[in-house]
Amino acid sequence: MPRKKAGNNPEQDKGRKKKNKRFQSVRGMRDILPKEQPYWQKLRKVVEKIAIDYNYNRIDFPILEESELFERGTGKNTDIVDKEMYKFKTKGGANVCLRPEGTPSVVRSYLQHGMASQRKPVKLSYNGPMYRYDRPQEGRYREFFQFGFEAIGEQDAILDAQMIQMATRIFKSLKIKNVALHLNSIGCEECRPSYNKLLISYLNNRKKSLCMDCKRRLKSNPLRVLDCKEEKCTQVVGQAPQTVDHLCGDCKTHFTSLLEYLDEIQIVYSLRPQLVRGLDYYTKTVFEFFTEDDKGAQSALGGGGRYDNLVGILGGPETPGVGFACGMDRLVKVMQNSDTEPYLPPTPKVYLAQLGDAAKKKSLRVFEELNKSGVMIAESFGRGNLRSQLKQANKMNAEIVLIIGQREALDDSVILKDMNSGGQETMPAEKIVKEVRRRLKKNAEMIKKIARQKTQKKERDLVKKKKSKKTTKRKTPVKKNRKK
Ligand code: HAM
Repeated sequence: MPRKKAGNNPEQDKGRKKKNKRFQSVRGMRDILPKEQPYWQKLRKVVEKIAIDYNYNRIDFPILEESELFERGTGKNTDIVDKEMYKFKTKGGANVCLRPEGTPSVVRSYLQHGMASQRKPVKLSYNGPMYRYDRPQEGRYREFFQFGFEAIGEQDAILDAQMIQMATRIFKSLKIKNVALHLNSIGCEECRPSYNKLLISYLNNRKKSLCMDCKRRLKSNPLRVLDCKEEKCTQVVGQAPQTVDHLCGDCKTHFTSLLEYLDEIQIVYSLRPQLVRGLDYYTKTVFEFFTEDDKGAQSALGGGGRYDNLVGILGGPETPGVGFACGMDRLVKVMQNSDTEPYLPPTPKVYLAQLGDAAKKKSLRVFEELNKSGVMIAESFGRGNLRSQLKQANKMNAEIVLIIGQREALDDSVILKDMNSGGQETMPAEKIVKEVRRRLKKNAEMIKKIARQKTQKKERDLVKKKKSKKTTKRKTPVKKNRKK
């Protein structure tokens, strides 16, 4: 039988295509490439520093949790749980999901590990990936990263203020400007039922003007109608009764204290009666941080609030809590468009070049010895061509280049080329660590000295400038008087 030509056999073509398939990351999930990492590293470093400064201990919890944890914690009727959870059954039949947020997991861990017996508040911080099956778009991913802070066991509004203060300090350290703080209080189980009644009656009278989702929310979660982004709903909601006007005494005092604390630390806020946040566990304080891009589109950088019932809802003793989380992907994007300097890792100042097989072997040992003594080194072990290696050393501005050729490999020596002076000398391999360290130290001292001299000159210039300004100022009124 004649063999079919390629392209005429669909089965074969299919097989070939399958073999040549280039895999892509799953929709809504992406790679964070090395060129973006300096911004991520900077962000993580700033967050870590704040955690240390405010005494928060790091906690890590699994990506996979029981679905019921979020159904009860975040709330069955929230978008996150109702529409966006990655849920599945394990081989053993357990209903699990990829964590859509961190707060219920932190509280689960707090209860599971008896942290309630620790000194309160128990302060915990985390960062890592979260998963929400939403429609992906700019700044909204199905796998995204959050950092968060939770303080469990303290009901004083000073903790709410401190959370806001921490977030604000993080934005400032990252040089992110124009972050607006939106603030509201949505009351507690004491005052919310009567407010809900008022709101439902108001909305029922205008039901026709609400979107389909809000008609449903009216029954399941009327508060959520308040922050619906549909234009027709925002118009209805504009005149709706406001939670802050219907707070019980305790919630009112709490909110007033929070505002006083914020005034004291000079944090500017904007009261937003429609801010309710899309998670069921919030009581009293809710807040969100917004930024605007150059096209005027608003995006939430982070949000949080008080959750005084969550520990109870998840089976623990009634314990208050407060916290916030920020979207790291969004922060990194804003950082890239701001003055934020990315984290720059220290770069090697020494380059190790080799020529020939024997030298290659020796260079592995020299590399290890220098590295163990704390000296960072660059190399291109895969390359055999000395010229291209030296080019590489030049490109990375190496201060010292070490060369091991055939001869040096034989008599166990190393050529040390000082790139600043241009001089070079051959020395026994055993002396190389000490010599490299000595020269690097000398260079570092020289750089420091030059930097010091530069600042001193700047300071002198500044004093001179101030002096000359003073003398010109003194001259001006004399002239004026003369004119009179
Ligand atoms: P959240 O408002 O759902 O709150 O999320 C916090 C932040 O995560 C958002 O403001 C946003 O920056 C980011 N974020 C949320 N979804 C996405 C997404 N699909 N893509 C990119 N970024 C996203 C919480 O998660 C609460 N656990 C916060 C909290 C902590 N409340 C008390 N403690």
